[in-house]
Amino acid sequence: MALSSMLQTYFGKSAEYFTVIGAIATAYIAFRATSSVLNGLFTYFLSGMLGLSLNLKNAGSWAVVTGCTDGIGKAYAEQIAKRGINIVLISRTRSKLEELAKDIESRFKVQTRVIAADFTRPDIYDAISRELVGLDIGTLVNNVGMGYDFPEFFDQVENRNKLVLDMINCNSTSVAMMTGIVLPGMVAKKKGVIINISSAAGKKPTPLLSLYSGTKSFVDFFSRSLQHEYGPKGITVQVVLPYFVATKMSKIRNGSIFAPSPTTYVNSALNTVGLQSRTVGYWSHAIQDKVNMLLPLTLTTHFLMGARAKGLKKKVAKKE
Ligand SMILES: NC(=O)c1ccc[n+]([C@@H]2O[C@H](COP(=O)([O-])OP(=O)(O)OC[C@H]3O[C@@H](n4cnc5c(N)ncnc54)[C@H](OP(=O)(O)O)[C@@H]3O)[C@@H](O)[C@H]2O)c1
Repeated sequence: MALSSMLQTYFGKSAEYFTVIGAIATAYIAFRATSSVLNGLFTYFLSGMLGLSLNLKNAGSWAVVTGCTDGIGKAYAEQIAKRGINIVLISRTRSKLEELAKDIESRFKVQTRVIAADFTRPDIYDAISRELVGLDIGTLVNNVGMGYDFPEFFDQVENRNKLVLDMINCNSTSVAMMTGIVLPGMVAKKKGVIINISSAAGKKPTPLLSLYSGTKSFVDFFSRSLQHEYGPKGITVQVVLPYFVATKMSKIRNGSIFAPSPTTYVNSALNTVGLQSRTVGYWSHAIQDKVNMLLPLTLTTHFLMGARAKGLKKKVAKKE
């Protein structure tokens, strides 16, 4: 029996209303799906090819990148330097910083400065501020971040009290403090770009990564609020919310379609600056995001319980 005559049988005259509502809902879903695909194609493919993203060099001759000696931060430092912008490199390990600075200077013919600072400490910002005085800072990338060794119930996290303070300082305090240091100069020039690296775990509550998720949602809300405060003053604030990228933190060695290498990821994310104030940064992450946002948290918990079991097994093996 055709659907319309089935509806006629069961609902009589009101079947017509259901048919109209169904047609409207189908058209709406088709419209949303098409516009979402077109938007993705434009953002992640066309904008890069056509060079539509913001020219960071116009914002100022220096950029500052935190957590820059590895992974996503290193890729930002390299790709911003490739655009002819001088870089202030801030990370924990001085030897790694000096090596990276040399490499960036010789490959991209730009100037660098290095600042060794541990972002788990809240007392580092006066020294950082002094080092940045007099530089024409156009771009700040707040990338530094730390996560759990593996997903875990909050009460069972090892060294929990220390981890709480370290993670809040490293993932959240750093973003607000570094922003506070560079903003006055940007406001005075009426231009600047601030890129804050959050996480997909900051977009949706993430059981067994509760502390990490909380610190990253701070980055998301802080950035979106700032964009409204300072967008009208000529400053672009972008929050980036990646899914997996192949780095030390994710413990994924090789890039793949769903967990790209940091270089592939950042190349894509940089092409969205000025076009998207909130982005997952990469086409396959946009697909993952559509699915993830539909999943109930019970299912997320189920997946992360699996990762927890593996993490615990490795921990035991390490001890033996
Ligand atoms: N990778 C992912 O799948 C993923 C997904 C979503 C969000 N993110 C976010 O992306 C950002 C970068 O992550 P990543 O995967 O690229 O990390 P990563 O490969 O582990 O690199 C972290 C970088 O930050 C530095 N760093 C770590 N702790 C520091 C501290 N306390 N003080 C100063 N520097 C510190 C490290 O320097 P040293 O080498 O000296 O330790 C290193 O340069 C983080 O905010 C993370 O939360 C990552």
